[in-house]
Amino acid sequence: MSFATSLLPFDADTLTLIADRWDTPCYVYDARTLTDNYLRFEQALTNQPHQLCYAVKANPSLAILQLFARLGAGFDVVSGGELQRVVAAGGDPNKVVFSGVGKQTDEIALALSLGIHCFNVESESELYRINRIAGEQGQHAPVSLRVNPDVDAKTHPYISTGLKSNKFGVAHDDALRLYQLAASLPHLVLRGIDCHIGSQLTEIAPFVDALDRVLSLVDALAEYGIVLQHIDLGGGLGIRYHDETPPHVEAYIAALRERLAGRGLTLLLEPGRALVGNAGVLLTRVEYLKPGAEKQFAVVDAAMNDLMRPALYGAYHDIVAVHPRDEAPQQWEIVGPVCETGDFLGHDRALALAEGDLLAIKSAGAYGMSMSSQYNTRPRAAEVLVLAGQPVLIRQRESIASLFENERLPD
Ligand code: LLP
Repeated sequence: MSFATSLLPFDADTLTLIADRWDTPCYVYDARTLTDNYLRFEQALTNQPHQLCYAVKANPSLAILQLFARLGAGFDVVSGGELQRVVAAGGDPNKVVFSGVGKQTDEIALALSLGIHCFNVESESELYRINRIAGEQGQHAPVSLRVNPDVDAKTHPYISTGLKSNKFGVAHDDALRLYQLAASLPHLVLRGIDCHIGSQLTEIAPFVDALDRVLSLVDALAEYGIVLQHIDLGGGLGIRYHDETPPHVEAYIAALRERLAGRGLTLLLEPGRALVGNAGVLLTRVEYLKPGAEKQFAVVDAAMNDLMRPALYGAYHDIVAVHPRDEAPQQWEIVGPVCETGDFLGHDRALALAEGDLLAIKSAGAYGMSMSSQYNTRPRAAEVLVLAGQPVLIRQRESIASLFENERLPD
């Protein structure tokens, strides 16, 4: 069975049972795939000092964080909220790196008091702010500078982060000065250096270019007596959604290891999508079929609020019938109930459909639920984890009442 029609890693019976029990739209994840994806990275990193820090933003479900924490993962967080999730899921704060351009005072204070591994600092002002808060708390803050290597990740412009024109990191040319500044601030401890050039990369070359640029800085810093313990290369490894051929984890890691050989640097990586993307599907049911003169629409019960990637990036997700029909397929626009023309999940898909059919939108484990919203006052979907073949509800569907429980009528 080809990638385009297979339900893997799920089977039709399990998905049908889940839809019957917990209704649709529903995100379903496979614990075995999550574990295998994680262990593949670990295996490739054998004998290389390293720490994997799963990028929580890709899928912050507590159950998924717990699964990775139990495998020994650290975490990359970008907010105090994500950090609290990690703690709630049993993650070790000492394996957490904190990224992001806008860390707030209370978030920094929390991270310091929990004893995180490192702040990935993105500006001069942030260095001063972290130094001040650490001083107030009588602590020393571990920091890395996130360097913007000015490398083109050749991915969608919205998820490309390593160019000079992006808001992220400090300029490569300014890094030496800022490291010296950081070394002079009394409440900071320099731990490492960091970069993250973008997401859904399908080539190795930009990673290696970025690594080379960062390593040249590591060498320059050593000449000034600044010796770092780790190098954090962020996340970004792509997955196959359609016809992409992203590098295998093994090839990606081997390319990095080759450059790092003999340097005594611990390698930190922050994979998100590569760990969770292909481990999840969004289950949805066909509500209405609307044949038309120009286009035929299949209106399903999931929408852009559940899976924003098609509307936001024009992203492609395979859509397959859980129980394929024998009839000849027709071309369908797969759309949701939200009142926007941009509310589509797939254009021009060849499927044999009837109302009530169950569909699986594939490769939805990363940036699916985490980017969902309640637009059109639609409760966010349920989430189910399949553990050794057994589906377990890990997040119940939101109730309508909860959607406006924090609102107040003026009188
Ligand atoms: N580290 C940092 C600092 C990041 O900003 C990101 C993702 C990652 C790690 C994880 O990257 P990954 O391994 O997942 O590529 N919403 C977009 C993706 C945005 C990625 C943002 N940063 C999407 O749906 O494609």
